Amino acid sequence: MFFESVFPKGERMNLAVFVSGSGTNLQAIIDAVAGGKLSADIKLVLSSRPDAFALQRAEKHGIPAVYLSSKEFDSREKFIRAMLETLRRHQVDFIALAGYMRRVPPEVVQKFKNRITNIHPALLPAFGGKGMYGIRVHRAVIEYGCKVTGVTVHLVDEEYDHGPIVAQRCVPVLDDDTPETLAARVLEVEHQLYPEVLQLFAEGKVIVEGRRVKIAK
Ligand code: GRF
Repeated sequence: MFFESVFPKGERMNLAVFVSGSGTNLQAIIDAVAGGKLSADIKLVLSSRPDAFALQRAEKHGIPAVYLSSKEFDSREKFIRAMLETLRRHQVDFIALAGYMRRVPPEVVQKFKNRITNIHPALLPAFGGKGMYGIRVHRAVIEYGCKVTGVTVHLVDEEYDHGPIVAQRCVPVLDDDTPETLAARVLEVEHQLYPEVLQLFAEGKVIVEGRRVKIAK
């Protein structure tokens, strides 16, 4: 089961959401599915942390929720095998990272080529990469003096925050913003944009040509 291209038209998307924390983006995705705005079934929520609140959100909605961390395995190979086996068992064919704080193993990226997305709370390639996560991103944006920031949804490749950009949306930086107020406004936009972008994939509208991602009319 190798995926070489974007998600094909006419197939129901079997989604896994990978999380590590609170899971407000997961909640937005759950709500979009429930509200008929996202034509997908959430087959699995996978967390790198056992105490992620996102796991409780999943359970509340009757979604299979698993904690899977390399820490629990005595080799990297066994961890990767367990991840692939979990995805296969739940019939997952698309993965949305939503606050997942680990690198996706290259073996999984290869197997799900162009079928893994991530959401980042800034306009990539600015303010991304290793160590740029959470409130640090918004602090760096304010300290640099940026007037706009935003949200990026991109495909996942082997490097952090690097894969082709699928969609971006701007958020103004206000004179009196603190990292916390800015984070809150950016997060609201994340909750709108991520389900919208996943729906474009579910409708088979996303075309990937090298680094350029186009949306079919
Ligand atoms: C979001 O800001 C997302 O952009 C980043 O991690 C955060 C996750 O938040 N990748 P939540 O767990 O969805 O609330």
